[in-house]
Amino acid sequence: MSIPKASDKTLDRSGVRREHRLAVIGGDGIGPEVVEAGVEVLEALSRARPALGFALTRYDWSSERRLRTGRYIPEGGLAELKSFDAILFGAVGSREVPDHESLWGLRLAIVQSFDQYANVRPARVLPGVESPLSAGAAIDWVIVRENAEGEYAGHGGRAHRGLPIEVGTETAVFTRAGVERIHRFAFELARQRPKKRLTLVTKSNALRFGMVLWDEVFHELAAQYPDVRTDRELVDAVTARMVKRPESLDVLVATNLHADILSDLAAALSGSLGVAPTANLNPERAFPSLFEPIHGSALDIAGQGIANPIGTFWTLVLLLEHLGETEAAAALMRAIERVTEARVHTPDLGGTATT
Ligand code: IPM
Ligand code: MG
Repeated sequence: MSIPKASDKTLDRSGVRREHRLAVIGGDGIGPEVVEAGVEVLEALSRARPALGFALTRYDWSSERRLRTGRYIPEGGLAELKSFDAILFGAVGSREVPDHESLWGLRLAIVQSFDQYANVRPARVLPGVESPLSAGAAIDWVIVRENAEGEYAGHGGRAHRGLPIEVGTETAVFTRAGVERIHRFAFELARQRPKKRLTLVTKSNALRFGMVLWDEVFHELAAQYPDVRTDRELVDAVTARMVKRPESLDVLVATNLHADILSDLAAALSGSLGVAPTANLNPERAFPSLFEPIHGSALDIAGQGIANPIGTFWTLVLLLEHLGETEAAAALMRAIERVTEARVHTPDLGGTATT
């Protein structure tokens, strides 16, 4: 499916009172397909609510564009993107461009430049979806992933290229400011949830510098949040706890890489990677935030019209919440649950439904 280039399309012209300006980037693989399904959902929401409107601008930033022009994001692209209220993103990843180039060329270029340091990944077993765990119904987690530094800071290099003594380094960078702001974000989030529990996930037994800083800053902040129940888990041990005692977890905060891994586990335990949503937030709103399904470009099923759009729909729930459209967000979540409950499933969930 091809997406028209940067064109404006205003939804619900009649009586619009709140019009949100969204940048829409389909990207690669199934990205454009699920994003277009998401646009249909926005149109439906807006049709049913005269006060709610979206002005969409589509961008064809993708690996195809990179191969054609040498760049994912054209000159001035980021500055233009900055003016939007939010960004809806599909996926990036193609057979023609090495993964680390596509990732840094598009997704991380936006996430890092817009300081979207809080990556929020809810996990829950939707009605009609089966968890591989018998206790799966107890899964109701939010993984807070530090999204700006750590193992993804881009610090490192290669030397002695091609020689037997070649070396590659990858330095995880943890700053007090970076650690403190993600912990504060996680505490504030945990405080708003019924269980008010926050689990700090690190590996401070083996990694004695950055991870110990994570632990220290967490415990300093905990004193300011006496209403939040906290505990600490090593990243290896928390995988077992996610499987064995899912009810004992609520909000988890972890580094960029650790939470990347944990969120795939969380998605699989919730029944499918195809339904998992994510928000890359700049909580201070100095920049727009980016919302995307976590499944990636899934090149093996691209173009077949069978990609699961639920990940994108749930992502839109996060987007609407961020824009303060809580009523529309709740209505969309109910609609998603009605569809999954009726077992209208795409093939990844064992069904025959199309996107
Ligand atoms: C994710 C993805 C990305 C990441 C990939 C595509 C590089 O796995 O969003 O979880 O590791 O950040
Ligand atoms: Mg991942």
